[in-house]
Amino acid sequence: DTVDWEPEAAGKSGYPHFMLKEIHEQPESLRQTLHGRVEEMAGRVTLEEFDRGAFADIERVQFVSMGTSHHAAMYAAAQLTARGLTANTYMAGEYADCPAPIDDSTLVVAVTQSGETADTMNAIRRARDAGARTLAVTNVVGSSVTRECDESLFIRAGPEIGVAATKTFSSQVVALTLLGERIAEDSTGVQRAEMRSLLSGLSDLPGDVQQVLDESTAADVAEALYGCDAYFFLGRGPAHAVALEGALKFKEISYEHAEGFAASELKHGPLALVTDNTPVFGVITGEDDLKTISNLKEVQARGAPVVVVAPANLADKVEFADYLLPVPETHPEVAGVLANVQLQLVSYHAADQLGRPIDKPRNLAKSVTVE
Ligand code: AGP
Repeated sequence: DTVDWEPEAAGKSGYPHFMLKEIHEQPESLRQTLHGRVEEMAGRVTLEEFDRGAFADIERVQFVSMGTSHHAAMYAAAQLTARGLTANTYMAGEYADCPAPIDDSTLVVAVTQSGETADTMNAIRRARDAGARTLAVTNVVGSSVTRECDESLFIRAGPEIGVAATKTFSSQVVALTLLGERIAEDSTGVQRAEMRSLLSGLSDLPGDVQQVLDESTAADVAEALYGCDAYFFLGRGPAHAVALEGALKFKEISYEHAEGFAASELKHGPLALVTDNTPVFGVITGEDDLKTISNLKEVQARGAPVVVVAPANLADKVEFADYLLPVPETHPEVAGVLANVQLQLVSYHAADQLGRPIDKPRNLAKSVTVE
């Protein structure tokens, strides 16, 4: 008798794909990202990399990043803007050609899982040459970006093999949320009660992700919506970043046409694409972005199947949805990470049902080291 044993399968711990394994690793990878960094009772974030007051002079943050890392940066920029800082995101490849003006109060943050992305490296070199203070947020200790930047913050997600970034997005958002709190505390100041509520949401996040993984009906949703013309994703604020990430993941591994939009953008063009054969996924994180509901009702009136990803406590507000993918009730800035896990599962199952080579999608590389 021969034993059919693929050496690669050993590394997948019984999962059919690295992507699914890495999606399921998120409770643990998030625990690592958070480890020792959250003082929930005191309402404080401690990052051993940065002394208290290290960001006292910072008024402006510029994020440079690509792909999934860019979506994590967008999420973080929306949070920082809400804390009263000027935060902008730049696609690193664009910034490398046309850098934004910087001054003494500007911090340029490179967000890159691998730490080797050529566009991001070029952007950070331009920023450094212009005299900016530079900080790398990365998963890989000793990567090129850590040598190029003045400072580094590690997301501690562990190795990611699948070309589609999954657990690293979640850890990037959490690490950037912690960094954002440190910057805000040093520069504009934070409201302790609000901070406690956010930190409690972050501490609960690993368990909440586990609950999503245990209870998700994403596979059924993917099956029900199999073979449509296109798939659209909507959200506002941090949920806009999640919508863009949902669409990127979907197109990258399923090869289906998928686009993400800001919910407010819909009426200014994309609505013309909506038919009864273009499902629309709406991401809602809390009371503040309930306005997205009216955008979703608009596409539904045009026949589009609507999938809502929202905290379970808002279920009565989203009863109109054709499909609901609930996430546990939590702080709205954390809910986006949970919503994204639901969308990761939708993309995974859609690609799996289509028989795609999920871990190695055509034409793509894990790390893009050329411009
Ligand atoms: C994500 O699923 C993609 N494979 C891709 O967009 C990736 O996020 C991008 O190339 C940036 O990579 P980095 O985080 O290693 O810089």
